[in-house]
Amino acid sequence: MEREKITLTGAPATMLATLYGRALDSKRPNSVLHDNEAARTVERIEYDFARTRMTPTSAVGVAIRAKVLDDWTREFLAAHPSANVLHLACGLDTRVHRLAPGPDVRWYDVDFPDVIALRSRLMTAPPGDYHLVASSVTDSAWLEDLPADRPTVAVFEGLSMYLTPEEGRSLISRICGRFPSGQLLFDCYGSFGIKLQKLVPAVRNAGATLHWGIDDPRELESFHPGLRCLDALLSVDMPGLDSLPLSGRVSLRIMSYLPGLRDVGKILRFAY
Ligand SMILES: C[S@@+](CC[C@H](N)C(=O)[O-])C[C@H]1O[C@@H](n2cnc3c(N)ncnc32)[C@H](O)[C@@H]1O
Repeated sequence: MEREKITLTGAPATMLATLYGRALDSKRPNSVLHDNEAARTVERIEYDFARTRMTPTSAVGVAIRAKVLDDWTREFLAAHPSANVLHLACGLDTRVHRLAPGPDVRWYDVDFPDVIALRSRLMTAPPGDYHLVASSVTDSAWLEDLPADRPTVAVFEGLSMYLTPEEGRSLISRICGRFPSGQLLFDCYGSFGIKLQKLVPAVRNAGATLHWGIDDPRELESFHPGLRCLDALLSVDMPGLDSLPLSGRVSLRIMSYLPGLRDVGKILRFAY
């Protein structure tokens, strides 16, 4: 089988680290996510994945974060079987395969055109009402083209920190203004995490830059009337951290006592 060579740089290249993290997790006996499709996708790519500097701890951390967002998306779809899912900055994430949504779900995987082109070469489209959208999320046209007749959950993992605060605000208010109701599920860095960005190997090695740090999630409630923060989970408190290797559990325990560091990452759930 001919493997795909990777020529991406900057933010799009960071998706290789998260993909590889989920693939590594899938090979562990106590895998968190069982993302075997991620492992198959890695095998189809010609790339020195050691460059991502994924460690057993960061790989399981990526899988735990993905599982929280998967579980929240599943909860939303259980309550709203007829819904839109906007999976923004999908990269090569196999979330649609993991969730296997029902027949009345419309699923949109959105990312930059070169990422979507790579994704369509590497991954088989799932059955059902599935669409690839090749656009920056900061452009407004793609959103205006989507049918606005259903509750809509937007899930975006590893995106908010690549946006400027103005782009983040505009994206959130455009989504909330477009659909009748729904949820926003996403991870974010705090402002201290943005300051420490050069310490994140996946970001540094890809030559990417992080911009938007969120310290108080409730400030986002002003972005749209009726937008409410339902959950703000600290990364150091995510469910499932006992699956981390011992060294990772010890590091997180130490971080959880250090002001600033305990807030470097969060996972947020908003309703609108
Ligand atoms: C850290 S990766 C995360 C990918 C995927 N969500 C995952 O967890 O594997 C960052 C992703 O954000 C995408 N991205 C960054 N800025 C974007 C933008 N303005 N519009 C669309 N996608 C963007 C990149 O192309 C890349 O796929």
